[in-house]
Amino acid sequence: MPDTLRPIRALPDLLVSQIAAGEVVERPASVVKELLENALDAGARRIEVRLEDGGMRRIAISDDGCGIPPDELPLALQRHATSKIASLAELEQVATLGFRGEALASIASVARVQITSRTAQAPHAHRIDTFEDGIAPAAGAPGTTVEVLELYSATPARRKFLKSAATETAHCADALRRVALAHPGVAFALWVEGRQTLSWPAGTWMARALEGLGDDFREAHRVVDAQAGPLQLLGLLGLPTASRGRPDRQFVHVNGRFVRDRLLTHAARQAYSELLHGDRHPAYALFLAIDPGLVDVNVHPAKTELRFRDPQAVHRALQQVMSEALRAGAAEHPSLQPARPWTAPMRPAAPGATQSALALAFGAPPGTAPAGWRTATGLPGGLASAAEPVPGAGGAGGADAAVGEAASPAGDAAGSPPLGFALAQLHGVYILAQNAHGLVLIDMHAAHERVVFERLKRELDQGPPAVQSLLIPATFRADPLEVRLVEEDAATLAALGLDLSVLSPGTLAVRGVPAALADADPASLARSVLSELREVGSSRALTEQRNETLATMACHAAVRANRRLTLQEMNALLREMESTAGADQCNHGRPTWVQVGMAELDGWFLRGR
Ligand SMILES: Nc1ncnc2c1ncn2[C@@H]1O[C@H](COP(=O)(O)OP(=O)(O)OP(=O)(O)O)[C@@H](O)[C@H]1O
Ligand SMILES: [Mg+2]
Repeated sequence: MPDTLRPIRALPDLLVSQIAAGEVVERPASVVKELLENALDAGARRIEVRLEDGGMRRIAISDDGCGIPPDELPLALQRHATSKIASLAELEQVATLGFRGEALASIASVARVQITSRTAQAPHAHRIDTFEDGIAPAAGAPGTTVEVLELYSATPARRKFLKSAATETAHCADALRRVALAHPGVAFALWVEGRQTLSWPAGTWMARALEGLGDDFREAHRVVDAQAGPLQLLGLLGLPTASRGRPDRQFVHVNGRFVRDRLLTHAARQAYSELLHGDRHPAYALFLAIDPGLVDVNVHPAKTELRFRDPQAVHRALQQVMSEALRAGAAEHPSLQPARPWTAPMRPAAPGATQSALALAFGAPPGTAPAGWRTATGLPGGLASAAEPVPGAGGAGGADAAVGEAASPAGDAAGSPPLGFALAQLHGVYILAQNAHGLVLIDMHAAHERVVFERLKRELDQGPPAVQSLLIPATFRADPLEVRLVEEDAATLAALGLDLSVLSPGTLAVRGVPAALADADPASLARSVLSELREVGSSRALTEQRNETLATMACHAAVRANRRLTLQEMNALLREMESTAGADQCNHGRPTWVQVGMAELDGWFLRGR
């Protein structure tokens, strides 16, 4: 500690701006976002973006908006100078994208900025240049062009954090996509190093969303158009066939502003939970309109976070509207029917149909019966006499059930553990087991996922998980963002038990995985953790979002459908389920197993009536 502190003094303006810039202008894409928002606030109908060297050398954004009067040009660059709000009352009702009067000042503190602008009345344009004095007449159509040159050249420490031009260009294009999705009535065009790479004409929100969401989306989506309480909701919801391995096509806009809001994403995830498997991410574009007085956007410097006055109501409304839209679609699309409730199992129409229904249910051709199925004595068709187990995958007749002896014959099942002993595997999806009450059906993947998830959670509670080093590292091709995450978030990855390293600019190697996930495919496990980190940020991946992160990981280690398990493996899973708290539900809240009692089975066969 120094003997005496230096006297307190106000920071110089430039330093204040540079500190603020750290938050507002994180990278070229943030400049693009701010300039696009300014153009939209100015009422532009057409906006052109030009990037050179990933935006690090030059970002130029031209609009045909209202322009800035020449005498106000210096003010535009001044901190806390804005034309958009003048009072607290206006702040609370803010409807423009900008309002802090901070963006241009922040950008100007870390780059050279030139603004050329002309209002509708002015005979010609004027230009201001932060590297020159005064305002000079200039050529130009009505509207504004803002050029940002040599970003961060004066703050080299920050420049070091930037990645390759290609990566930064990709981020800029993402920023443009997000803004453009919310403003379909405005035409957008993008040039990268002088070459036009995107041109979206003005059109309907739906046309724009279809352009922004990609081709598989075109054929597979539902439209939402609903009013729920104070919330007006428009959107396109991708169906499962348009789902993705990464959550990179989820666009949520509130009052024309792209937001990353946990509450809204959570509501969406819940709405999809019935339809989508845990490792798939839906694609959707949502446009919420809400009275600006009911939402506070002044929470985060980049304005991507919100605070709703009544978050529960918004969550409820969004989830309900989305679920309904997705379910309504399901009625027309049989492949999307929700699972038949287990309390109403399929019954044969008539006693005579029993045999074929049975054969169907077990995937066995008529005339063969799984060994261990001992209750069907006396039925015609050789069911009782077939002593041979149905062959496995390679077997004739398309039999698809791995079948073996029940560990405990039907007669003495009374002393069996709660979930009983495995009998067989059905279509690579369910385990059939026999317990004291009758038949138990287990959703193999969901149950295993849950067990692994709980195991991971327990381990992490006690520190970094045990790491299983891979004898041969698994390598995979990675995009620049993934490489960057590995370079910058090594600590987070280590805390999750992942040992990753950069092999080359486009290749990553997995050298170790959490021991609890030793069975997972290392590359796809690593990929999905990286995509989770990218989505939620590494600090949240270990805190608020930890369970989501672990669920993603567990999903990779869980046995996949169609993997043939031995009876021993199946029984091991049942025992583990019994000793895992919360194993009755999968990570998405669905049951992992159901009991079909003997009485119910008897009922199907009209026995004992
Ligand atoms: N493209 C543009 N067309 C017309 N006026 C503009 C344009 N860009 C900036 N301005 C003017 O410059 C002012 C300052 O812009 P700046 O982006 O720094 O702040 P802001 O948009 O008011 O608030 P925020 O910091 O939240 O973005 C704006 O209030 C607006 O009057
Ligand atoms: Mg602004």
